[in-house]
This record gives sequence, structure tokens and C-alpha cells, in this order.
Amino acid sequence: MLELNFSPFPILQTERLILRQVQLEDIDEVFHMRSNPSIMRYIPRPRPKSKTDAIKTIRMINRSVAKNESINWAITIKGNPELIGIIGFVRISKEGHRGEVGYMLDEAHHQKGIMHEALVAVLKYGFNEMGFHTIEGVIDPGNTASEKLLLKNGFIKEAYFRENLLFEDKWMDSVHYTLFSK
Ligand SMILES: CC(C)(COP(=O)(O)OP(=O)(O)OC[C@H]1O[C@@H](n2cnc3c(N)ncnc32)[C@H](O)[C@@H]1OP(=O)(O)O)[C@@H](O)C(=O)NCCC(=O)NCCS
Repeated sequence: MLELNFSPFPILQTERLILRQVQLEDIDEVFHMRSNPSIMRYIPRPRPKSKTDAIKTIRMINRSVAKNESINWAITIKGNPELIGIIGFVRISKEGHRGEVGYMLDEAHHQKGIMHEALVAVLKYGFNEMGFHTIEGVIDPGNTASEKLLLKNGFIKEAYFRENLLFEDKWMDSVHYTLFSK
């Protein structure tokens, strides 16, 4: 069984980015991103209706970090502490040494290789520091950007589940990708 410890919070650095803990000060950016229909188009999660909802999301993220159950990082560009995206292991199976990676990035920063750079760092942390055996990516079949990102990072498609998720009264399909530790 995997033993996880996110204290002190692991700050990750890449060439252009710093990945740090999400804080209550990030409320405006979190609200902006999670209430944007085009960012959330393929993410079956409730949209925040108010900043209070965004605060709840940030608190939930950090409660889970404190309990060593899951971890999310705020993506920032070096020299600017503003949150431009979120990436993390949103679901972890300690028994299966497996984590599901999830991510979203503000539209102003799309297609500049930012999420690829963040993902490389997070995958390395997941395998080397957390001890995962496999990392999973679960996407909506229409999410070409996310699919390309996973394939670019060596994930392989393992399954297509039909109507395995009920979101806002609609049954959704999902495609499951896996990356194996080397
Ligand atoms: C998915 C997402 C995080 C990608 O972030 P990004 O920083 O724009 O991606 P990158 O620039 O690192 O690109 C990675 C690869 O995907 C490709 N790609 C990215 N966006 C694409 C798009 N809209 N259409 C086609 N390909 C795309 C890039 O070309 C690149 O491949 P390449 O190097 O072979 O050219 C971003 O589109 C996003 O936040 N989407 C909304 C939230 C979401 O759907 N999250 C995933 C839920 S599973």
C-alpha cells in the first residue's frame, strides 16, 4: 500500500513554470477558469455559480492535500505568482499504486506547450516521489487537445467506456489512457 506525504507541500519547477499549492488568494483565477464554458466543456464537474463555490473548491483541494489523499498544483509562470492553470492527481488508489491526472489551463495560455511542461514534471513526481506504478488519464472522447497531450507523453489508450458517467442528467462516454512506470 502506497504511503503518501504532501507535507511540506512539494513545489515543482520547470524551465518556465513554478507549480505551487493552490491558495485562497487564487479565488478570482479559479472562479474565472472553472466558470468558463469552453474550459469546462469536457470536464464533467459542477461549475461554480459564485466565488463562494470557488472558495469551497480551493478548500476541498487543500483538505485533500492535508489528508494526503490527492494533490493539485497551481500552475504559474516564473516571475508572476498568478494562477494560470491547475494540474494534479485528482484520484489516487493507494492499493493500486495508481493516480488519475487532471488538468486545466486558462485559454490565454493554450497551445504554447505549457501543460506539456507541467505534465512532464507532475508525471516525474508521481512515479519517482509518490511511487505510482501507473498513471491514468480519463477524457471525454471529444477532447482532442487532452488526447494529444496524453499521447505526446506516452500514454496508451486502454478502454472506451460507453455511458459510464451521469452528468447533468446526461450519460457520458469516457476514454481511459494509461502511462506505465519504466
Ligand atoms: C488540454 C489542455 C490542458 C492542453 O493544454 P496546452 O498547454 O494548450 O497543451 P500543449 O500546448 O502543451 O499541447 C500539447 C499537445 O496537444 C496539442 N494541442 C493542444 N491543444 C490542442 C487543440 N486545441 N487542438 C489540437 N491539438 C492541441 C498540441 O499541439 C501539442 O501537441 P504537439 O506538440 O504534437 O503539437 C488545454 O486545452 C485545456 O486546459 N483544456 C480545457 C480543460 C480540459 O479539457 N482539461 C482536460 C480534462 S481531461
